[in-house]
Amino acid sequence: MERILPHSELERARELIAGAERVVALTGAGISAESGVPTFRDAGGLWRNYRPEELATIGAFERDPRTVWEWYAWRRGFVAECEPNDGHRALARFFLRRGREGIVTQNVDGLHTRAALDAAGDGPPGAALPIEIHGAIARDRCNRCGQRAEAEPLGDSLPRCEACGGMRRPDVVLFGEMLDSDLLARAQSLAARADLCLVIGTSAVVHPAAGIPLATLQGGGGIVEVNTERTELTGAATVALRGEAGVVLPALLG
Ligand code: OAD
Repeated sequence: MERILPHSELERARELIAGAERVVALTGAGISAESGVPTFRDAGGLWRNYRPEELATIGAFERDPRTVWEWYAWRRGFVAECEPNDGHRALARFFLRRGREGIVTQNVDGLHTRAALDAAGDGPPGAALPIEIHGAIARDRCNRCGQRAEAEPLGDSLPRCEACGGMRRPDVVLFGEMLDSDLLARAQSLAARADLCLVIGTSAVVHPAAGIPLATLQGGGGIVEVNTERTELTGAATVALRGEAGVVLPALLG
């Protein structure tokens, strides 16, 4: 641990957490990297091998839904094989203990939810359940009426909504689409009221998610960043902890 992080920085971050009344966490693809889920922008990340403008846009879905569906079905199968890691688990236990505020995630992989359910056991997962502002890959949604449905394996014909017959799609935000305004408002309000925002494993370049920690700063709070690299946000962070989320978070949130 000491080899990875200067001890004093970790201590400073721990003190900030101990002194904070309200804590919010914003997570990105980096927290799931150690679970084997590819990130988006690192070397080997998804966007390096695929063109998002062809695969993850609302225009592409309208033009060629099968190609978009096939890509998401591949990602869905991939994610289903992945397990939450020590970072997800430490965060889930932390917010379960606190019983308030919570996790805002850009990830659609469902690993925070699984960690929350595991941590809660027979009890309610409460504050450990994330606000998934970019949606959830394991769910479908009707492109016409919005009704949500459990995902099914992709067959020869594309899935249709049982309620209205409209085209179903993965329940995730595609490029060119707005985020769910209620979820975003909840996330922004948590951040604006927080004394501290933990920003974990995100390159902090995709808006509006990247603006969430800034709401904490504007409200007079601080930022603790956990990332293997420097990011757009590092300069604004009160403390920046350089290391893997699966190692740093258990040490930080113990
Ligand atoms: P990125 O791929 O842009 O960034 C991942 C970040 O995680 C980088 O800053 C890495 O340095 C860091 N990282 C990698 N491994 C790590 C580890 N083990 N521990 C800690 N940090 C690590 O992913 P996001 O910021 O999540 O949106 O991307 C944001 C959005 O861009 C995604 O939600 C997605 C994409 O477009 C949608 O699909 C709507």
